[in-house]
Amino acid sequence: MENDRPTDGPGPIAPLRVAVTGGTSGLGLALVRELRGRGARVALVARGSERVERVAHGIVGDVARKEDIYPIGLQIVGRLGGLDVLVNNASDLGPTPLALLADTDCEDLERALATNVLGPFRLTRALLGALAASAREGRGAVVVNISSDAAVTPYPRWGAYGASKAALRHVTDIWNAEIESEGLRLLSFDPGDMDTPLHALAVPDADRATLKRPETSARDLADAIAAALPRPRASLGCPPPVAVEGGAS
Ligand SMILES: NC(=O)c1ccc[n+]([C@@H]2O[C@H](COP(=O)([O-])OP(=O)(O)OC[C@H]3O[C@@H](n4cnc5c(N)ncnc54)[C@H](OP(=O)(O)O)[C@@H]3O)[C@@H](O)[C@H]2O)c1
Repeated sequence: MENDRPTDGPGPIAPLRVAVTGGTSGLGLALVRELRGRGARVALVARGSERVERVAHGIVGDVARKEDIYPIGLQIVGRLGGLDVLVNNASDLGPTPLALLADTDCEDLERALATNVLGPFRLTRALLGALAASAREGRGAVVVNISSDAAVTPYPRWGAYGASKAALRHVTDIWNAEIESEGLRLLSFDPGDMDTPLHALAVPDADRATLKRPETSARDLADAIAAALPRPRASLGCPPPVAVEGGAS
């Protein structure tokens, strides 16, 4: 259930408006629950209509499809009445089982780039106007792009995914440098190795007991978002500083 209670502070402050792509599983689902628990209004996006339609403000869409981006953006802004925070979390692993680059089909690399780089790029562009309006109103405007250690470490067999996450990280840093003076912030967040369906697909024989719970990473991510917002928003759950990658850490 949505929690629309006002945040604390000098007077009632409208709830934070957040959109999370890939919000029906793993980190995205845990983040939706964490943010709603902290009083935010959250829209989520995923392809699988059955799971999306079970939740409030669920939007069916594929961020890898160019023609889905504006319908997704319009529904986000329409349902939330604007947007303060966008979390580009939906992701594609490339070929599974993971493959050497020499054995990677172009179509698998294209899909990873479309989902992990072009999707966040297009959706952020489509929502820039709404985010800029939020920044002008002093509500804050933050875009979080979910990264990975594969963005910086060239792990064999993670070529399509790693290359896409490296590109996303660089896009994030450059865009943040270009736009920070206008009150918008873009940051990367590496959630660590988590026990999720994506991880199980990538590393089927992993010892799940050694993996982070997505709820733990979601709490850290919500804290990072709160830290990146203007001061009154700290009531989202003012955190101790957490390590985030990129220009906005
Ligand atoms: N798990 C890890 O250990 C780990 C480590 C480092 C970084 N990460 C990053 O953390 C993020 C979340 O990963 P996760 O492990 O939580 O993944 P997950 O459990 O597989 O969840 C992925 C979510 O994204 C949605 N999705 C996938 N492709 C989509 C598309 N094209 N358009 C819209 N939605 C799409 C999925 O729903 P549908 O399939 O219904 O669309 C689902 O809701 C990703 O960015 C991942 O790269 C994960």
